[in-house]
Amino acid sequence: MSTLKSDALVLFGATGDLAHKKLFDTIQALYRRGVLEGPVIGVAKSGMTREQVIDRAREGITTYGRGVDEENFKKFADGFQYVDGDYGDPATFDALKKALGSAQRPIHYLAIPPVLFGRVTKGLKAADCINDDTRVVVEKPFGHDKASAEALNHILHEVLEERQVFRIDHYLGKEATQNVLYTRFANAFFEPVWNRNHISNIQITMAESFGVDGRGAFYDATGCLRDVIENHLMQVVGFLCMEPPFWPDKERVRDEQVKLFRSIRTISPNDFVRGQFEGYQQEPGVAPNSTTETYAAVRVFIDNWRWQGVPIYIRAGKNLPVSATEVRVQFHRPPLVVFPDQQAPMHNYVRFLFSPRIEIALGMQVKIDGERMVGEPMELKVVDQQPDEMTPYERLIGDAIQGDQALFARQDVVEEGWRIVQNILGNAVPVHPYKPGTWGPEEVNDVLLPSGGWHPPRV
Ligand code: BG6
Repeated sequence: MSTLKSDALVLFGATGDLAHKKLFDTIQALYRRGVLEGPVIGVAKSGMTREQVIDRAREGITTYGRGVDEENFKKFADGFQYVDGDYGDPATFDALKKALGSAQRPIHYLAIPPVLFGRVTKGLKAADCINDDTRVVVEKPFGHDKASAEALNHILHEVLEERQVFRIDHYLGKEATQNVLYTRFANAFFEPVWNRNHISNIQITMAESFGVDGRGAFYDATGCLRDVIENHLMQVVGFLCMEPPFWPDKERVRDEQVKLFRSIRTISPNDFVRGQFEGYQQEPGVAPNSTTETYAAVRVFIDNWRWQGVPIYIRAGKNLPVSATEVRVQFHRPPLVVFPDQQAPMHNYVRFLFSPRIEIALGMQVKIDGERMVGEPMELKVVDQQPDEMTPYERLIGDAIQGDQALFARQDVVEEGWRIVQNILGNAVPVHPYKPGTWGPEEVNDVLLPSGGWHPPRV
């Protein structure tokens, strides 16, 4: 795998929402850190001029990003070129080739709908904008089931090798996700207890206190399971449960990921609950009788020696009481009640809060000061920090520019991800209504109740 830095960044979808809200802010930060040195070339069909796209980038960074930093914004603006054209028109790619000038190793970022991937990669190839050192970054969704993921992959592989494809899942770029892996394997004391002998269950909650926020049409065709569980939260399961990877060899990291995914049992409809918040069907872009879920909970089992029989409960949803993502690794109860005044024997746990802050905490029972042998639950916070100084996009695009694929989803991982959920896609189980601001439909407690109950994230 080449580790030579890309020397130009081509942004397809330069006038789109993602570029506006996230990517120009990221580009400015990459210039600041010296990771991006070559020019940025925007491509889109908007009828805008180069100056208008630059103004829009400035506005996006001001409104959604971390504010314009004039010195580095200037680096971007001075080198920026814009190609306005149709992705089906060879002239667009000829103009891009010209704009690339002497750049030898462009990285193409496809911030466009997947239906356009084939058109764009073929156009790039025909105009000689792809060589051995070219990299292509693609955005989720990577298909909507296993067959479509395979078809999409086929399209990309017609002109690119797997080592050139960077599939972005921004959860892998989060400091908190990487911290799970680091904490597990940079310490010796976790490993002996990180298994079925000591862990009773794992809970992952990704709660969002807002609804679909103007993304009704996208969301209605997607639903919660495909939007965040099949990809983001399964990646978290990967880092929580995989065997030790050998970090310097990036392919071996992804080998461990896929090995774990292959051991995950295909989820049964009996281990799945869906909910829809009341009022969802009135959202713009949502079908009036939509059965798309805005809440999903699943129980996952891993059939290997380390995890056999340990249920992993995952729930995610829109319009829940808080915005927070948390993992709670629950240990078995102590085998005996030793102290007569002890309440029901408690679970101990390790808690990883991903957002709104980053925390790693150990939950335990400690004795209350005084004569009697009675205790109370207490937490030891090992890490307590503001979220990512470097945003996930900054981290990941920086890695892609430098040719590092460790934190990008490899095709076999993507296909296993779809295999795991293949029996619960669509209307596999009924969708239950829930009131906005609650923890989802009541039915979840009948079907999927972790021992000790669901724990709301501690925020
Ligand atoms: C996106 C989903 O991929 O992730 C959104 O499409 C979701 O629906 C978002 O809100 C959550 O990301 P984060 O980083 O805010 O947890």
